[in-house]
Amino acid sequence: MSSQLNDSCLLIGFPDYREPAQRLARAAGIPYADALIHYFPDGETRLRLPEPLPGHIVLCQTLDHPNSRLVELVLAAATARDLGVKHITLVAPYLCYMRQDKAFHPGEAVSQRIVGTLLSQWIDALITVDSHLHRVHQLQDAVPVNPAINLTATPVMSAFLEKQTDNPFLVGPDEESEQWVAAIARDRDFDYCVARKERFGDQQVRVSLPKADYRNRHVVLVDDVASTGRTLEEATLGLANFKPASISVLVTHALFVGDAQERLRRAGVSHIWSTDAIPHSSNALHLDRLLAKALDGCRI
Ligand code: R5P
Repeated sequence: MSSQLNDSCLLIGFPDYREPAQRLARAAGIPYADALIHYFPDGETRLRLPEPLPGHIVLCQTLDHPNSRLVELVLAAATARDLGVKHITLVAPYLCYMRQDKAFHPGEAVSQRIVGTLLSQWIDALITVDSHLHRVHQLQDAVPVNPAINLTATPVMSAFLEKQTDNPFLVGPDEESEQWVAAIARDRDFDYCVARKERFGDQQVRVSLPKADYRNRHVVLVDDVASTGRTLEEATLGLANFKPASISVLVTHALFVGDAQERLRRAGVSHIWSTDAIPHSSNALHLDRLLAKALDGCRI
């Protein structure tokens, strides 16, 4: 850790992401403080930052529940500026609104660009993990700040899988997942393949598996995000026909909305693992060291 960052920096966490933020502060050797949040009966937020603040702060908040957390983030960043902070680094392990990267129908908001521009008005640097960049390839094109660092959790995942599973067979449920599945497989020489997905609506997808010998293998489905879980559920139902030894799920971002986890269990998934990019009961992998190393590189 650069002494410059150490001596003059404070990491500020939010109550709903306190534990991962505190872990990151410890790993990075940066003092930690809470942003104090009070919810008024009508749903508005009162936010209070500790005083005095150093010239550089790190705001650590993940951006699931995006609409309320974006507002709280802007409240925090604007207040920090009022209190004299010169440089704000945002560590947002899950970056919201990245999937709507074009107007799929006339009149639709291109949320990725709009939210990225909003963030860039308040922060100076960004660190995130496995951001869903599809048509836009550089994080900086979506969130125009410098640096804008898009880390990948794949080294943490491959180390985890090596300990957890004997000779796993990795399956990516759609073409976009290939980047993550291939990287993990390359790291440890695991077998892998990638399925094809067609999406018909929020909850309707069809997953076509490639021909492969899944029988008696410990299959691990790997994806960046599990939202409704339909993608993983459809892939699991297809895989079950081939009688694998087990089917597990490993994702960076565990949104798992509604009854997604229960449906995956019913479909035949034995283990559901995720990183702590989003707090969830399936969290089995911590990203603190990965994030701390990137913070160390953000010398101001
Ligand atoms: C998009 O392609 C992502 O990589 C995920 O596959 C997708 O967001 C998963 O969504 P759901 O869990 O709702 O099927």
